[in-house]
Amino acid sequence: MSLNVVNVDLGSRSYDVRIGQGLIAQAGRQIAPLLHRKKVAVITDDTVAARHLMDLAKAFETEGITMTALTIPPGESSKAWEQFARSVEWLLEQKIERRDVVVAFGGGVVGDLVGFASAVLRRGVRFVQIPTTLLAQVDSSVGGKTGINTPQGKNLVGAFHQPSLVLADIDVLSTLAPRDFLAGYGEVVKYGLLGDAAFYDWLEVNAPAMARGDAALRQYAVTRAVEMKAGIVSRDETEEGERALLNLGHTFCHALEKATGYSDRLLHGEGVAIGCALAFELSQRLGLCAQEAPSRVRAHLKAMGMKTDLADISGDLPGPDALLALMGQDKKVIDGKLRFILARGIGEAFVAEDVPPDLVRAVLADALAVRR
Ligand code: GLY
Repeated sequence: MSLNVVNVDLGSRSYDVRIGQGLIAQAGRQIAPLLHRKKVAVITDDTVAARHLMDLAKAFETEGITMTALTIPPGESSKAWEQFARSVEWLLEQKIERRDVVVAFGGGVVGDLVGFASAVLRRGVRFVQIPTTLLAQVDSSVGGKTGINTPQGKNLVGAFHQPSLVLADIDVLSTLAPRDFLAGYGEVVKYGLLGDAAFYDWLEVNAPAMARGDAALRQYAVTRAVEMKAGIVSRDETEEGERALLNLGHTFCHALEKATGYSDRLLHGEGVAIGCALAFELSQRLGLCAQEAPSRVRAHLKAMGMKTDLADISGDLPGPDALLALMGQDKKVIDGKLRFILARGIGEAFVAEDVPPDLVRAVLADALAVRR
């Protein structure tokens, strides 16, 4: 199958996202043109290392490139000061210099952490993303948002630091647990909902076969999502405007993630899917879009076997007021006003600056009532 290439156009900091099968095995050849000397430092996590690090090591060895690797524990708790300090100090011990390249090999946690470590190491070294989850391939590896969590909140410390190359190997997706694949799909469907109705139509038809494992369909879906993100990022790198559309479903999602303690009860992509359904419900109640739109979103998520409603989240949830208060702590709140991404229809999202809290509370109250 051929390789798809999407360029993120950012002037002198432009880079390619290459999407295809067998890319880990080709990583040495793909990355070699970026290297001033034949040495790379890879940071990954234990899970990805066990599955794929030997293949990556072989790919570098074939090109005569020396690879050193650091493995961190898997999971969101690694995206914090401890593993950040460990990564930076390890890179210094490996004598990684200004002109060297660091490789982030893993999902969103590894990508965000290693991207941030690269941003501050010697005031900035280049890094390559090799994302190994669907969520990382379509969202976090592209666009240069890097950072870590602190006790005060998620992603509050970080930097915009664009990668020099992204290699999205479609084959690694077949090693994901079905739940993780579907959680990543929450971010894929978001792109259709926010800005491409034809892509959403395509997903309604093709996503079930894609979830079952069709590599060509996966490659197309990842490519289309990345094309959309690349376009948005190149027009609005630092989220002054349009980039906020990528947060469709995220205000609800962040409140639900906090309410469930960032636990296994709700994965980020699952929260995004539920959040998208609620954002369309809210849009419909504001008279912005037709009743068919939220029904269609929910029907598709259900057909995919995904979490769609608050009733699909196990265990207790706080009441509507408490959930609304959690939204008030979201980064998207400006001057105490609730900022949402709403939609005039499928593929027609926009930023709404001053959404009435009472209406949001009513949407939450109704969604919670269905649980009982
Ligand atoms: N994940 C949202 C963004 O990159 O802006």
